[in-house]
Amino acid sequence: MILKGKKGIIFGALDTKSIAWKVAELAHAEGAEFILSNAPIALRMGAINELAEKTGSEVIACDVSLNEDMDNLIDKAVAKFGKLDFVLHSIGMSLNIRKKNPYTDLNYELMHKTFDISAISFHRLMQTLMKKDAMNEWGSILALTYIAAQRVFPDYSEMAESKSLLESFARSFGYHYGVSKKVRVNTISQSPTMTTAGGGVGGFDAFFTYADKMSPLGNANAEACAQYCISLFSDYTKYVTMQNLYHDGGFSNTGISANLMEMVQKAGEQTA
Ligand code: NAI
Repeated sequence: MILKGKKGIIFGALDTKSIAWKVAELAHAEGAEFILSNAPIALRMGAINELAEKTGSEVIACDVSLNEDMDNLIDKAVAKFGKLDFVLHSIGMSLNIRKKNPYTDLNYELMHKTFDISAISFHRLMQTLMKKDAMNEWGSILALTYIAAQRVFPDYSEMAESKSLLESFARSFGYHYGVSKKVRVNTISQSPTMTTAGGGVGGFDAFFTYADKMSPLGNANAEACAQYCISLFSDYTKYVTMQNLYHDGGFSNTGISANLMEMVQKAGEQTA
């Protein structure tokens, strides 16, 4: 039980496919206690109550784009647990993708909201935790990201910039939180994963298959991602901070794979 006695908050469990759902199940199995949080609209779907029951957790609503919701959540978490040891930010939403606006014709009001929910919320979370002195020393804060922050995946649209911003906040805030409280902050750059947020990106099936064929180990699934998150919440990774950590079966360092070459060759033969 590598998280025995540890307390935290897990954001973003929408349904059984959510990465945060798998993290909550495993954190519970490893002895952690935590609060589950999601936007009020997501809570209305009700699936999270099943997870709460299974893991003996309380559910507290928080729209992460609202300061007052964040304040309220952190106050309640501290009242319940005292200081926290871990927090998972597993949140992403693009309003322009939802509206199917092409990347070269984006609505800037929607873009602001996308950045607020998907990236600025990470700063808001850490700033609130720091102001309320809500983290224990050697605590661990994690957010989930995607390699579109570094490379172009055209259908990922404004989420690419959201993820770049998110990763930058992890580095910059990680510095300040490290110096003042020895709290570590990292992002995990995860393989394409079959979830509600993942499936919302255009052409998802194609780039899921592409990444799977390209990665020497194949795509990492949500369960494997949860295992990596738990290791980063544990005391075995105390000096890992300010990093963007690829959890992608080797995709990020592969130029081309034999698998993919074979697919391209076959497609070429068929069209010749
Ligand atoms: P998901 O759809 O299950 O989770 C996204 C969560 O964000 C949902 O629970 C949703 O309710 C929450 N959310 C949206 N707006 C919110 C708001 N205003 N306040 C609070 N919560 C809000 O999908 P998934 O895939 O588990 O996503 C988790 C994280 O993993 C996201 O950051 C996503 O970008 C990232 N990720 C996902 C990949 C994939 O292919 N599925 C690949 C790499 C990273």
